[in-house]
Amino acid sequence: MDARQLKVEAARAALAYVGDGMRLGIGTGTTAEEFVRLLAEKVATGIKVIGVPTSERTAALCRELGVPLSTLEDTPELDLTVDGADEIDPDLTLIKGGGGALLREKIVAAASGRMIVIADKSKLVGTLGRFPLPIEVNQFGLRATEIAVGAAAAKLGLSGPVTLRMTGSQPFVTDGGHFILDASFGRIPDTRALSNALFAIPGVVEHGLFIGLASTAIIAGGDGIETVHV
Ligand code: A5P
Repeated sequence: MDARQLKVEAARAALAYVGDGMRLGIGTGTTAEEFVRLLAEKVATGIKVIGVPTSERTAALCRELGVPLSTLEDTPELDLTVDGADEIDPDLTLIKGGGGALLREKIVAAASGRMIVIADKSKLVGTLGRFPLPIEVNQFGLRATEIAVGAAAAKLGLSGPVTLRMTGSQPFVTDGGHFILDASFGRIPDTRALSNALFAIPGVVEHGLFIGLASTAIIAGGDGIETVHV
């Protein structure tokens, strides 16, 4: 099975958790897009759900495929969010934000009774940090925030390049109008400590460590589906 098929299988398994009348948070990224495609097929069979998308990109796909949408303003409490991840550790702490949607993804996940993360097996790691940690920052004071991020990490014994995410020659701008710093600190043994340190920096809007949000992971590998609950 290729990587795309594994994503489809993880998404298909997540669909089993979707019931009639549910209010769903809908994630962002290539794996979440497979979930949207399958969800749209289920909607076409008559199941009633309402989705709150975690990005403009996901919203556009839902509209195109006929998945009914709401906003978090109109539907502030959700039953279930299904989303992908860039890395997943054994406690289901995640790194997210490779697609730049981490802020809305975290707000939507936190507003949900349950978060299921779907992924292919390549996303499973023993310790987070191989994937650069996305940090969403205010545009104002970018350089100062970048320096503060490096200094906060150093206090925790972490170091590595912190780079501004670009789209061509321009900085990548999130749906919320912010920039993203990608921090290549390597292994992050204490995610809570790094989270606290980053939140102490005024220019940091959000970071891609999702701690205590996902309670179920559906992981697709060549040998089948593994479901992990915490
Ligand atoms: C989007 O901002 C991310 O958090 C994605 O959920 C994450 O990058 C996983 O994306 P893929 O499913 O495309 O790997």
